[in-house]
Amino acid sequence: MTDPVIIGSERSEAGLPTGMEVLSRGGSALDAVEAAMRRCEDNLADHYVGTGGLPNAQGVVELDASVMLGSSRSFGSVGALRGYPNPISVARAVLERLPQHCMLVGEGAALFAEENGFTTAELLTDEARALWRAQLLAAGAAESAKSVEGENTAAVAGDRRYRSESLDLVRRLAPHEGPWGTINIIALDAAGEMCVGVSTSGYPFKYPGRVGDSAVPGAGNWCDLRAGGAACTGRGELSMRGGTARTIVELMAGGEQPAEACRLGLADAATLPDEFRAELRALALTPDGRHGGAAGQFGSVYAVMTTGSTEPELHPRAVL
Ligand code: GLY
Repeated sequence: MTDPVIIGSERSEAGLPTGMEVLSRGGSALDAVEAAMRRCEDNLADHYVGTGGLPNAQGVVELDASVMLGSSRSFGSVGALRGYPNPISVARAVLERLPQHCMLVGEGAALFAEENGFTTAELLTDEARALWRAQLLAAGAAESAKSVEGENTAAVAGDRRYRSESLDLVRRLAPHEGPWGTINIIALDAAGEMCVGVSTSGYPFKYPGRVGDSAVPGAGNWCDLRAGGAACTGRGELSMRGGTARTIVELMAGGEQPAEACRLGLADAATLPDEFRAELRALALTPDGRHGGAAGQFGSVYAVMTTGSTEPELHPRAVL
């Protein structure tokens, strides 16, 4: 018997108690991660996952998510999924019901979700739309916004401008200030199985169709029961280029403690040239329950629950 534990990135506190309940009842790490992540995805106050997530540059919410199991390294993910509020569950369905594949994106992912009985919902909330409009206006769409009538003025104007100057606009639509990012949840169950789950609305105001590290094995998510699991939040292009989640697990396999493995994995990614300002963060868990995290800035934390916890406990991340 293993002592169950569940850890998560900033804002996972909305879901970790639900995940811990699953683990305490003897449930699987996969069930715990899915249940916990669904809570986060349904949290309208969170603008980085699920319903209420920030949209792409055209004002459409596109979600990425993945789950990976440590014993088999089975992986399921969806990328740029539109219209389905719980991408973590669709990713799980890819893992369990489509074993010939690991990842579905865009229209194919939505078709699979529909065929597997998932229900659609409006994902763009008024608050997320307002944040997007504010960014469009700040990025210089104000002039064209004035010339278009109607409730969706900024959307239409932004759309026009987007088509004429798309790459330049995406360059200027940087994430807003303050901590932003994906949610990572890693669970270890009583049977010793580990699962890493990642869910996100992705880089705020991204180019439509952009898929980030959350859907990509080895980048934002990696789980290998021989050494542990790791996951990333923040600028996914860096962890995709650095293979960061897998790098961290390999470092743990080589004997590094989780926090130091995360710090070294981020340090490796930080050597890559990158002109965008968003940082990368990571967290990791070993099969014997040790955990740690790292970030590029002071004050970043991750949350932990064990069977004795009444609520998530916040732990500081190591600083790069
Ligand atoms: N880490 C989330 C993303 O880049 O989409």
